[in-house]
Amino acid sequence: MQGHMSHNRNMNGHMDHENIVPLQASTGENKLAIPALLEPDKKGVYTVKAQQGKTAFFEGVLSETFGYNGDLLGPIIRLKQGEQAAIRIVNELKEETTFHWHGLEVAGQVDGGPHDPLQAGDEQLLKFDITQEAATLWFHPHPHNNTASQVYRGLAGLLYIEDENSAALPLPKEHGKNDFPLVFQDRLFNEAKQLDYEHAYYSDGTVGDTLLINGTVNPYLEVKREQVRLRLLNGANARNITFRLNTGDEFHQIATDGGLLNAPVAQTEITLTPSERAEIIVDFSLFAADQKIELVDEHGTVLLPFHIERGGKANSEPLPKQMNDYAVTEAEKALPISKKVELFGMMNMVYINGKKFDPDRVDLTQQKGVTEVWEIYNEKDMMGGMIHPFHIHGTQFKVISRDGVEPLAHEQGWKDSISVAPGERVKIAVTFEHEGLYMFHCHILEHEDSGMMGQIKVE
Ligand code: C2O
Ligand code: CU
Ligand code: CU
Repeated sequence: MQGHMSHNRNMNGHMDHENIVPLQASTGENKLAIPALLEPDKKGVYTVKAQQGKTAFFEGVLSETFGYNGDLLGPIIRLKQGEQAAIRIVNELKEETTFHWHGLEVAGQVDGGPHDPLQAGDEQLLKFDITQEAATLWFHPHPHNNTASQVYRGLAGLLYIEDENSAALPLPKEHGKNDFPLVFQDRLFNEAKQLDYEHAYYSDGTVGDTLLINGTVNPYLEVKREQVRLRLLNGANARNITFRLNTGDEFHQIATDGGLLNAPVAQTEITLTPSERAEIIVDFSLFAADQKIELVDEHGTVLLPFHIERGGKANSEPLPKQMNDYAVTEAEKALPISKKVELFGMMNMVYINGKKFDPDRVDLTQQKGVTEVWEIYNEKDMMGGMIHPFHIHGTQFKVISRDGVEPLAHEQGWKDSISVAPGERVKIAVTFEHEGLYMFHCHILEHEDSGMMGQIKVE
């Protein structure tokens, strides 16, 4: 779809934007790009540079893009629990940016929120201790009022944390062989095949008809007949994405945003709202090499066709039964609600607790190391409302309940982003391990830029 779009309203009266702009099926003509693991220099310092570039999404045309250490997206930073990370951040863009570590439990001063702009041409050395457990996190810019456009043009990368437990577990972990990152983003290209954010912009969340996985248009992925780990990130500005296998077969979810689940959870479908992650295991030993296996969305649209290696011998290790010791404690369940966060609105008129973001206002305070229960409430409007993916910086939280009901098995694990449906009340247990000023916001990036964000000071 090109040019200006018209917007219809769904049954609730809301702009049903995603359905108006369905994804085009992958034709499977391009090999999926796999981001490289970033190597540190001799002193152990990682360098992450935001830069401008050009990307050949389509044959014979170069599109203007942004990337980290390259033309588009970024490499994977892989860190270990217990180590001190040293990351040199460099801004080679012509505009200010920030480097935000989404899901990382770090002090507010290195969290990379809108308070820490790095001006064009500047650089800075960050140091922080990696204290949290194994997880698939990510990093992206967060400049004041300008997050959506920078992410849209290509700034996003993955951050893996590993620990002794994840290293010891018999899970697929060979990067690019049986352990694949999959960053999903939808984009709208104009007639010149450019990512024209201003033109594509939509206040309720910019969506497009072209799916990029790791920046590849029309991708396919080669796999062997074995257990394959897919680390899914919904890196879209606004689109919710549902994942299924075309055959309807089960796969197993093994991790949430912030860590491994206690045990693999069998699923036939999983929905991720923007910024949510899930790691899943697909057992390709169950399929024949000539079988057509695809990752599809809820409409059956092909997102990613798999090419299964021919002649390979089927090899399927059983999945571990116990992977983690996550629990919501009785004490946490008994805590009263001490913070209420009300999400409300649509288009540019989006608010948290009736207010728009003000960098000079502290909305909430909490003490370091003290667990509090937050209630996130998505208040319906006259049109019915919409899902808001709610995210808190600097922490991984636990979901206690959704509308009073214990969350399903696949949400019984560490989260930093959670989808909240219209009218729904979600109770979460939140603890900060570090001090500083942190953001909490809707992760529809256009809502965030429009001020659907607040600040919490942890002391
Ligand atoms: Cu993904 Cu405020 O962050
Ligand atoms: Cu974040
Ligand atoms: Cu929102």
